[in-house]
Parts: sequence; structure tokens; C-alpha cells
Amino acid sequence: CAIPSAVRFPGVAIHLAEPRMGRTRRAFLARLALSKGFRVMDAYSSEVTHVVMEQTSPEEAICWLESRAAPPPGCNRPVLLDISWFTESMAAGQPVPVEARHHLEVAVPRKGLPSPVWMPPYACQRPTPLTHHNTILSEALEMLAEAAGFEGSEGRLLSFCRAASVLKALPGPITYLSQLEGLPHFGEHSCRVIQELLEHGVCEEVEKVRLSERYQSMKLFTQIFGVGVRTADRWYREGLRTLDDVQKQVQRLTQQQKAGLQHYQDLSTPVQRSDAEALQQVVEAAVGHTLPGATVTLAGGFRRGKLQGHDVDFLITHPQEGQEAGLLPRVMSYLKQQGLVLYHQHQHQHQHGHSGDPTHLPPRSHTMDTFERSFCIFRLPRPPGAAVGGTQRPCPSWKAVRVDLVVAPISQFPFALLGWTGSKHFERELRRFSRKERGLWLNSHGLFDPEQKAVFQVAAEEDIFRHLGLTYLPPEQRNA
Ligand code: UTP
Ligand code: MN
Repeated sequence: CAIPSAVRFPGVAIHLAEPRMGRTRRAFLARLALSKGFRVMDAYSSEVTHVVMEQTSPEEAICWLESRAAPPPGCNRPVLLDISWFTESMAAGQPVPVEARHHLEVAVPRKGLPSPVWMPPYACQRPTPLTHHNTILSEALEMLAEAAGFEGSEGRLLSFCRAASVLKALPGPITYLSQLEGLPHFGEHSCRVIQELLEHGVCEEVEKVRLSERYQSMKLFTQIFGVGVRTADRWYREGLRTLDDVQKQVQRLTQQQKAGLQHYQDLSTPVQRSDAEALQQVVEAAVGHTLPGATVTLAGGFRRGKLQGHDVDFLITHPQEGQEAGLLPRVMSYLKQQGLVLYHQHQHQHQHGHSGDPTHLPPRSHTMDTFERSFCIFRLPRPPGAAVGGTQRPCPSWKAVRVDLVVAPISQFPFALLGWTGSKHFERELRRFSRKERGLWLNSHGLFDPEQKAVFQVAAEEDIFRHLGLTYLPPEQRNA
């Protein structure tokens, strides 16, 4: 043990661990530290407080430590640190506080490899925050899900979505393939994708799909308002590839698709939260003017805490059942008079859609409901001063934004809110859970017991979770 003439930091005893350091460099670093008043222990012992390693992975570091004698009772285990802590301390002339990024053991909790995480199989049984620890991995799987959807492969779409959703709910990042062991919904295919990403940083299949003409055209077409997978596929098979190709066939388009194409640029630009809030004020004013007491609730991704979205979803209701009837056309004409509506398509309430009885819907229809609603494109004035400077053209004074307005009677409102808050995958899982695990049918109108032939009366979303025997998840935890 080399002790400098003046030990300036008695609480710190550094051991430079050899494996990746090399003798000459180690000797140099030791002299440097000694010259700055640090204690450097040549041999590893229970006195060592800080073990410093270079180019060593967390699991190697743990192995290294565990192959040494355990510290005697009463002695603390040393911290395992990356060389960055050492060099920063040398530069500072004193030991810098140990931060998470210096730690060599954070990625690996104990015993070399982490213990498996227990994960319930349905996304509605676990919280899923908006931001998580496995974005690169989940995005790769979601792209494969999307591509499977373009091919009409519903089964593969679901498998990839479920696997991606599991990754979003994990408490930390996946860094070793073995961490997938015991997780639900990780089949051979998804495991292979993750393995490639962990080993090479890219997955060949994902990159191939991303660059394929098929994926790119399908993505482009389905992004047009009013164009679903079936239409996009037909266009592709007819040889269409670009928006120009679609434009040339404009006579074949529906009014909705024409509007979608016309405002393509704006509608493919993400809607900001501030836009959603501005729109809420506009809609609230119109609704309040038309029917005092009626309320407007922001649903969709923005309710889950997202900062951007592809559209804005609003639910309208009135505390007195029945008062909401006939409201929407009046709200729309009020908004139109103000020049705020670029396009709108009114969907009348379906004949049998008012009883709260979900039996009339096919059990597999996930997003279909029969509420009275308006699919709109709003003309949202840009705040003054939003114009861009420089050589670019001045920013127009407004932009087109997709808005959905949905009217629900108060008795169905909690179901409508739950159904319109999403995420899409969360909803799918919630309905599957209800059906398979509880024998109950859930949709945006109600919860139905097919044996009792009865519907549940609820006052709030919490009641629905309770009827299903699920722990309540607030909207921010439904980002499955
Ligand atoms: P969105 O498609 O608007 O998704 O549907 P989102 O989560 O808000 O995300 P972005 O940012 O806009 O893309 C919101 C919820 O409304 C339901 C969907 O299932 C989803 O849960 N929904 C949507 C319906 O119930 N019916 C529909 O016709 C459309
Ligand atoms: Mn939305």
C-alpha cells in the first residue's frame, strides 16, 4: 500500500483493478493520484472504499468483486466505479461525488444477472407510463406490428404489440437477452429482434421493412385522413406510390379523403398540447353557448399526458341525461359561423346505440361505437408571432388540425371516457381481459354481463376497474 506523505482524503482508499488497465497505465494513474493526496491501495483489501476499473462491463465488475474475499462483518463493500469517476476526481483535485453514471453495478442489480421481473400478462393489469426505458427496442417491435397490420396479419400485429407493450412496462432497460426470460408474449420472433438489436444495434428485418417501397407507400397512404389499410392496399396494388399518384385519381376519392389530401401537410405535422388546449377553449365556448351546463373533456393521447398527437379527441356530455340530444349539429354550425371548421362529417347516433347495451356490437369491434360524433378538420389560428423569420415564406396565420367530437349521454360517459382515452392497445387488452378473464363484454357504451343479461351502472372510470377486479390505472399509466 502506497501512502503519500500527506493524505488529504482519509475516507477514500482507491484500488485500481487490473483486468483491462495494463500495468504501465495503472502505475501511472496510481502516481498521479498519490501526487494529489489520494490513498491508493496496491492490493485489494477490506480497507478499499473505491474500486476503479477501465473498459469493464458491469457483469465483469461484479464477477471480479465476487471472486474476492467478502468484506469482514462491519466493513462496507467498496463501490465499483468506472474510470470516469477517477479522471474527474483527478481533474477536480479531490474526490467528486459518486453519481449514477459512475457506477459500474447499476445495470446489474445482484449476482451477475438480474432476477426476472414479474409481469402480469394483460396490459390493463400493469401501469405503463408515457416514457420508459426501452424505447429503441419497443419502437422496432411496433414498426413490425405496423407492417404486419399493412399486410392484414392481425395475429402478428397483436404479438408484436403485446411484446412491445411489455417492454414499455419494465422498470429498467433490457441490456441482456436473458432478461426476457419469463416475460409474457416474447415469442421466438420478438426475441430474435431484441437479440439482434442488443448485439448489433440494428435489426436487419426492421431496416429492410423500413426501407421497403411497400411499407413506405402504405405508411404514406394510411396517413391520409379517411384512408385505411384496405384502401391503401388497393392503391398500392394498382401501382400508386406517391401522393401525386393519388392526386391524379382525385375523382375517385371520398370527400373526407379529398379534405385529407388537401390538408396533408398540416395534418401530418404533430398537434401540440398548446394546440389542443386552444381548441378546448374554442369548443368549450361553442358548447357552453349552445347548451349551458354541457361539458367538454379532452380524451385521447393528450389525456394520457402526451405532448403531441395526430388529432384531438373531445367528449361532450351534460349532467342531465337526454339534454345532450341534438346538441352536436348546433355546436358545429356555431363553430362554422366563426370560420373555424374546414371540414366536418357528422355521424348520427345509430339506431340502437342509446341504451347502453353493448350486445348489439360484435364483440371484436374495438373502436366502433355508435355515439353521435363529428370527424372534423379545424382551422386553428396560430398565435400571433408564430411566423417564422429568415428566408422562408411567412407562416400562414392558421393551420389545419384533426378533431373528433363525440357526444355521450351521462350514464355512458365513464365508458366513453375510458374507451376514448386509449391507448389503442390498452383498450384492446382491457376488452380482451373482460371477455376472457371475467366473461363480461366491455365497449365504449357499457359493461355487459351476458349471463345475467345486465349492464353495470357506473359513475366514474374507477367503478369500471372495480367491477373488473382491476387496480385503477390513471390515464397517464395507460400508455400501453
Ligand atoms: P386515437 O386514434 O386518437 O389515438 O384514439 P391517440 O391515443 O389519441 O393517439 P394520437 O396521438 O391521436 O395518434 C384515441 C382513443 O379513442 C379510441 C381509440 O381506440 C383510442 O383508444 N377511438 C378512436 C375509438 O374508440 N373510436 C374511434 O373511432 C377512434
Ligand atoms: Mn387522438
